[in-house]
Amino acid sequence: MSNTGFPTYLCLFFACSFCCSTAMPTKLTQEVVNDRPVIGVLTQIVSDEVMKPFGSTYIPASYVKYIESGGSRVMPIRLTLTTAEYENIFKKINGLFLIGGAADLETSDIARVAKIFYKLALEANDAGDFFPIWGTCMGMQLLTVLVAGENLLTETTAENVALPLNLSTEAHSSRIFHGFPEVLIKALTQEPLTGNFHHYGLTVKTFEENEKLHSFFSLLSTNIAENRVQFVSTIEGKRYPFYGVQWHPEVNRFQWYRKLNFPHSFHAVQLSSLLAEFFANEGRRSLHKFDNPEEEASSLIYTHTPVYAANFSAYEQIYFF
Ligand SMILES: *[C@@H]1O[C@H](CO)[C@@H](O)[C@H](O)[C@H]1NC(C)=O
Ligand SMILES: *[C@@H]1O[C@H](CO)[C@@H](O)[C@H](O)[C@H]1NC(C)=O
Repeated sequence: MSNTGFPTYLCLFFACSFCCSTAMPTKLTQEVVNDRPVIGVLTQIVSDEVMKPFGSTYIPASYVKYIESGGSRVMPIRLTLTTAEYENIFKKINGLFLIGGAADLETSDIARVAKIFYKLALEANDAGDFFPIWGTCMGMQLLTVLVAGENLLTETTAENVALPLNLSTEAHSSRIFHGFPEVLIKALTQEPLTGNFHHYGLTVKTFEENEKLHSFFSLLSTNIAENRVQFVSTIEGKRYPFYGVQWHPEVNRFQWYRKLNFPHSFHAVQLSSLLAEFFANEGRRSLHKFDNPEEEASSLIYTHTPVYAANFSAYEQIYFF
């Protein structure tokens, strides 16, 4: 798989109500919302030779389209900045999205930068300053390392396979799946709607035995790996707006490489859309903002152009930095 450029070895991802009665319209109380959320996305280091001519770090365009499709914008965040610079960025963005890829979860640049944002997000949420984090695949794994304070991943290979989710009882009262149509919840448990491309993961046993992990996260779904081990596939913070999926919601709508099992059915697309909308809506609850429109414009991904990549990777388009 290494020649496809598809990272496989580690991880390989209203309150506005009007009462139209006879009297004057009454605006009901609503939370202050930010309808222009910006989600920060940490870049991944390029390790594949075929990608090196384009840049040293990258973000697959599928994640960008996914985040944009929910109604938010993307700020790419490089891995070479100082802690002070990340602290400054934190005050401007409305959420952090940790994408899939391959990196050491404790010693890599992405691990270092994710830890800075994670700590800032914990402090902010504790102080009533809402700040959500989403981790997909390696991003979810990274979240578990940050919460546990150690890397507890073991082999749980589910490589290039689409699976239904084994939803827990807690999934039915979760924030992530709240508002999903009943039909979709049913489909999620019966149809292969979630694409898996990982060799490592968190076993359900480890999750249940680790006090830090199970007191922090609700376990919303599990799956079974090739080695028959049960692994954690969806988690949600109990007190914090932190979310993780071991699978890849973005591929359902934004990746089409024929050799990989990307789910593209109606339900698969609906699942991907609703999750993107969910996270954008979490971003709307963050009131962080840029100092001025010029600073915002120059920080967003729109000034970058993705490269056509379908002839050397499993992605159609990739942003390089
Ligand atoms: C689904 O999860 C339950 C625990 O929540 C477990 O007992 C059961 O074996 C799992 N089934 C499958 C098919 O993964
Ligand atoms: C991929 O396609 C683009 C656009 O046609 C082309 O410029 C590029 O050289 C190709 N790359 C490879 C590795 O074939």
